[in-house]
Amino acid sequence: MALVFTAGITLSLGQGLRVLVDQGLATESPANLARAIGLFFILVLGLAFGSFARFYLVSWIGERVVADIRKRVFNHLIDLHPGFFEQNRALEIQSRFTADTTVLQSVIGSTVSIALRNALMLVGGLILLFVTNPKLASIILLGFPLVIAPILFFGRRVRQLSRLSQDRVADVGSYVGESLTQIKTVQAFNHQSEDRRFFAGVSERAFEIARDRIRQRAWLTTLAISLVMGAVGIVIWIGGLDVIEGRISPGELAAFVFYSLLVGVAAGAISEVIGELQRAAGSAARLFELLETRPEIGPPMAGKNQLPEPVTGRLEIDHLRFGYPSRTESPALDDLSLTIEPGETVALVGPSGAGKSTLFDLLLRFYVPQAGTIRIEGVDISTLELADLRRCFALVPQNPALFNGSVADNIRYARPDASQAEVEQVARVAHAHEFIHRLPQGYDTRLGDNGLGLSGGQKQRLALARALLTKAPVLLLDEATSALDAESEHLIQQAMPALTRGRTTLVIAHRLATVRDADRIAVLDEGRLLAVGNHEELIDSNPLYRRLARLQFRDQQT
Ligand SMILES: Nc1ncnc2c1ncn2[C@@H]1O[C@H](COP(=O)(O)OP(=O)(O)O)[C@@H](O)[C@H]1O
Ligand SMILES: [Mg+2]
Repeated sequence: MALVFTAGITLSLGQGLRVLVDQGLATESPANLARAIGLFFILVLGLAFGSFARFYLVSWIGERVVADIRKRVFNHLIDLHPGFFEQNRALEIQSRFTADTTVLQSVIGSTVSIALRNALMLVGGLILLFVTNPKLASIILLGFPLVIAPILFFGRRVRQLSRLSQDRVADVGSYVGESLTQIKTVQAFNHQSEDRRFFAGVSERAFEIARDRIRQRAWLTTLAISLVMGAVGIVIWIGGLDVIEGRISPGELAAFVFYSLLVGVAAGAISEVIGELQRAAGSAARLFELLETRPEIGPPMAGKNQLPEPVTGRLEIDHLRFGYPSRTESPALDDLSLTIEPGETVALVGPSGAGKSTLFDLLLRFYVPQAGTIRIEGVDISTLELADLRRCFALVPQNPALFNGSVADNIRYARPDASQAEVEQVARVAHAHEFIHRLPQGYDTRLGDNGLGLSGGQKQRLALARALLTKAPVLLLDEATSALDAESEHLIQQAMPALTRGRTTLVIAHRLATVRDADRIAVLDEGRLLAVGNHEELIDSNPLYRRLARLQFRDQQT
């Protein structure tokens, strides 16, 4: 309504101009002039407040729509199966998400309004041109394509170049981001001069494209001024002759010139924003593509089951076979069967790439196995709600993932409503309390992205504390010795009995001490389960285990 109202007032300004010229000026009567000016002021006031309403409401809609779309896309993405983010790089999705929503925001918030306003103006202006003077209007209409065609042509070139230019600017951004987050590697290898040279290339390309765009744009302006003003001059010339001959009034001519300018400006504005609208359509399509991606791992289709209470942590892995979608020819797990009793601690050992971490991924149902089943408490996990299933597990991943926030927030990640006392208690069990206490603000110390400011061993102890807070019946521990110094290893070793007490524990172990403490040891190689037993049995019976024990565990043994 505000759009129609303001367009209507702008159009009637032309009639106001006609009254002003014909009755205010031509009659040479001050009273008539005052009346005409009064009318003009009323129109201007209406226009001013109408524009307020239009700008506020249309921009509001733009921001609202974008906020809603952002929320919907994010809510959708966060539930998608992890495999999706491997096929489509997570970084690319992220930039799509922010860049595309920003385009939508600017287009819905301003471009759509410009397009609608000028479309109304174009149609209204053309009608009023004919109402004011059909003969002149016909001349204008004939000349219209001559004026508009070159402007459209240049306009398209400008648009193409501005898209290119944006892509180049994005290159600049991603290059800076990558080098700055890896700054230590950059400097350690004295790579700065390479980076300077490469970055200079990237930003010069951005400049060159931008320069071409500006040049086209400058030509567009020059052309538009010459053609539109030239056309106006011709209209005034023909119309002026009519005024001199007395066929039309001076006010009519003034109104006519006003409307032809209005139509010219509206046509120019529309030709400029059409490209923007196309870009927005592209952005919207990409966002809806994300929304339409169905999670491959969703809630169970049929025969939904509930877990019995309480879950004791009995796990049955039955003829499990799985290959990653990108490498189906060589399965990561092959015909693997293993039963784990409640409260038992089982160590998984095997060379790197044996499929140990993959087994954890399948237990948490991040991927769907090609064959075989996993049962927890006797219930097939494919018949459980994902949230119910994952509540049973406390995971300490190989690379502990920490988030931007305080130390306490990171521990509380598992249970946001946990009290400070509970947080400190699990930190003590994980041998993290001492070092947290020595941090500048203790539990309120803020960590950077991915736990920046902590050592590898400290990160892992935080990840342990977090897992403990869940009170889940099954603990999944992907031990990573690479991140640990001897001291932290020792501390985590001490924490182990407290960690595993009363839970079923599956631990991917690299340390002999952990392996020996386990009730059973499962040896994996190339996705297959080779043997299960205790340390002494396996040393005798399994050559791979013997070799691993000799090589991998040697240091700790001595
Ligand atoms: N996301 C993935 N996509 C494709 N292949 C993978 C992926 N993750 C692991 N693999 C492959 O699966 C095999 C088992 O990996 P993993 O379970 O991580 O081994 P590990 O026993 O060292 O934990 C390896 O050959 C690895 O290259
Ligand atoms: Mg692993």
